[in-house]
Amino acid sequence: MKNRPWLIGLLATFFGIASTVMYSTQALETEGKPALQKLHGPSEIASTKAHPKVEDWEDPEVCGGCHERQYKGWQGSMHSISFKDPVFQAEWALAEKAVGGGAMTKLCGGCHTPIGILTNTVKFDPKLGKHGGFTTEGVAEKGVSCDVCHTASGSSAKTSPYGGPGNNSLIYTPGTTKFGPLKDAKSPYHETQFSDQHTKAEFCGNCHNIFHPDNKFPIEHTYDEWKQTPYAQNGIVCQDCHMVPVDTARRVADEMKRPKDLKDHGLGGIAGAGAENERSLVHDHGFVGGNSIIAPLLGVEGGEEHKAEAIKRLQSAAELDLFVKPIDATGTYELKVKVTNQRAGHQLPTSLTFIRQIWLDVSVTDAQGKVVFRSGELGANNRLPEGTVIFRNNSVDKDGKNTVNPWEVAGFTEINTIPPKGFRYGTYAFRLPAYSAGFTVTAKLNYMSYDQYLADKLLGKDAVKVPAVNMKTLTRSFDPQGRTVAGLSQPIQRPAQVARR
Ligand code: HEC
Ligand code: HEC
Ligand code: HEC
Ligand code: HEC
Ligand code: HEC
Repeated sequence: MKNRPWLIGLLATFFGIASTVMYSTQALETEGKPALQKLHGPSEIASTKAHPKVEDWEDPEVCGGCHERQYKGWQGSMHSISFKDPVFQAEWALAEKAVGGGAMTKLCGGCHTPIGILTNTVKFDPKLGKHGGFTTEGVAEKGVSCDVCHTASGSSAKTSPYGGPGNNSLIYTPGTTKFGPLKDAKSPYHETQFSDQHTKAEFCGNCHNIFHPDNKFPIEHTYDEWKQTPYAQNGIVCQDCHMVPVDTARRVADEMKRPKDLKDHGLGGIAGAGAENERSLVHDHGFVGGNSIIAPLLGVEGGEEHKAEAIKRLQSAAELDLFVKPIDATGTYELKVKVTNQRAGHQLPTSLTFIRQIWLDVSVTDAQGKVVFRSGELGANNRLPEGTVIFRNNSVDKDGKNTVNPWEVAGFTEINTIPPKGFRYGTYAFRLPAYSAGFTVTAKLNYMSYDQYLADKLLGKDAVKVPAVNMKTLTRSFDPQGRTVAGLSQPIQRPAQVARR
């Protein structure tokens, strides 16, 4: 199919979406290379080859023949299912229907199926497709596949209208040359070219920064968040935590060192069958984050392993602490639960900060074990009660109305995600019955990819029960003065001190 951005532009203008015209005609200058046309606006994606075909990119199975380790990891990853993911497909269909004119097909598809967009093979028909009405062809169905990352030859981040990487600002050169991090790679199957960008966080930032194309609001900005962290200051990039096992990533965060500088990291091996030498570090390709639902749901090979590693990743992210203070002499206490983002290289949670649910489930029991206070208990309907402390951003549209539709988000009215190595408190008050000789506090930090309302809306009522992952639990017992029992260190605040104020 021929590119006809003017036609799309015309239609879009007709329906009142003038912006599409602007994006589809943007010219791009890159050093030493001829000017590229960005033909897929509002996505920033571009190719050095005119009218590329799906066959210009190879199937991951071919790569897997020699790169078994990378293939195994990738197969279970969210990157392998970024097009098929039913939650994405359903949301994508809502976006396309709401905005119209194909703009959202290109914007969302530019990251979730880059090959589909570059080859104009994505079709939308609400009656078709397994999951949401979108179809594409061949390797384009395999989302962010090997060649999507390893035929990326450059980036237009420097000239991006958003002042940095985002909305898939990668430039592709499909073909037999594979771009990667090795300076001296020799392959019997393909040419290789050293690519500095593959070793940088900016590489990931091309897709892990999402801007609203009209109001330019950074809807998701994991890369921009990372830039402000101690990790970035110490040269620790996304790859250092997400392309190594979780146990290694823990050490990266705790020792503030890159994997290659960790003692006995044990990540060496052969990077591809037929390689001349072993490499001191070969990267995992599971790209494990927090999602433990979709890979097992779609039954992909390696999905269960991915789920287990995602749960482990979530359980590595945070630490909890508890502070109790009697606020009067009649048995009223203030309880503060401190949540520290110990090992995530960005806000906790990141990306879909208005959709992900990280919350505190807190209970207080008296000396007899009777519950005297509870907050954040998941109900029988898998929903959280009012008043639950949730670490998230509250998103609104241009009129200030609450919305979780990504294409409508124009701002955040409340920012309650936790910065890296920083912390936030959940604060509560409860009353202890006079008879009790003390109390026990249990605080749990939990994670859900989305709430049950959104899952029901996107996938159908009760089609999926969203699982809750326990990230961390802390239990401590206190005497009536609010001092920890069993020798745990805790600043002591006596009621008398409070009374004097
Ligand atoms: C999301 C992007 C992405 C995808 C998808 C991806 N890779 Fe990679 N790959 C990278 C990056 C980035 C590096 C370099 C990591 C570094 O050096 O910091 C890399 C490194 C490599 C290397 C060099 C050796 C090593 O492991 O460090 C090989 C070989 C490789 N990838 C093959 C593959 C194959 C085969 C697939 C598909 C099964 C694949 N990659 C999918 C991003 C990707
Ligand atoms: C710049 C690249 C980019 C664009 C553009 C983009 N996405 Fe995404 N999307 C991502 C990334 C990266 C993630 C993973 C974030 C995470 O899981 O934390 C994601 C995750 C999602 C998810 C969550 C899937 C799940 O199972 O949890 C949904 C839903 C989604 N995107 C919908 C959309 C829609 C709809 C659009 C267009 C309006 C869109 N995305 C545009 C990169 C993009
Ligand atoms: C016949 C075996 C074979 C096949 C098939 C194969 N590769 Fe390779 N590849 C190798 C070998 C060998 C190396 C060099 C490893 C080394 O030097 O340590 C390599 C190196 C690489 C590198 C590193 C390049 C660099 O400079 O950093 C990437 C990336 C890569 N391959 C990607 C792919 C992708 C993507 C596919 C599928 C489209 C693929 N390979 C198919 C054998 C193969
Ligand atoms: C071509 C675009 C693209 C590039 C480049 C890319 N990603 Fe992604 N990534 C995505 C999309 C799209 C998803 C979401 C898939 C979904 O949820 O449906 C995703 C998902 C992920 C997830 C899983 C999130 C979760 O909720 O579990 C992690 C982790 C991740 N990417 C890390 C990386 C890292 C690290 C890099 C750089 C080495 C990178 N990505 C490069 C597009 C990209
Ligand atoms: C110091 C280690 C570390 C670094 C560096 C790091 N991450 Fe993460 N990342 C984590 C941990 C731990 C989690 C799980 C907790 C969470 O969801 O935030 C995570 C989660 C994620 C998720 C899933 C978020 C969700 O809940 O949907 C994505 C996507 C992601 N990271 C992408 C990136 C990208 C892109 C970069 C670089 C710009 C990066 N990460 C840098 C440790 C790291």
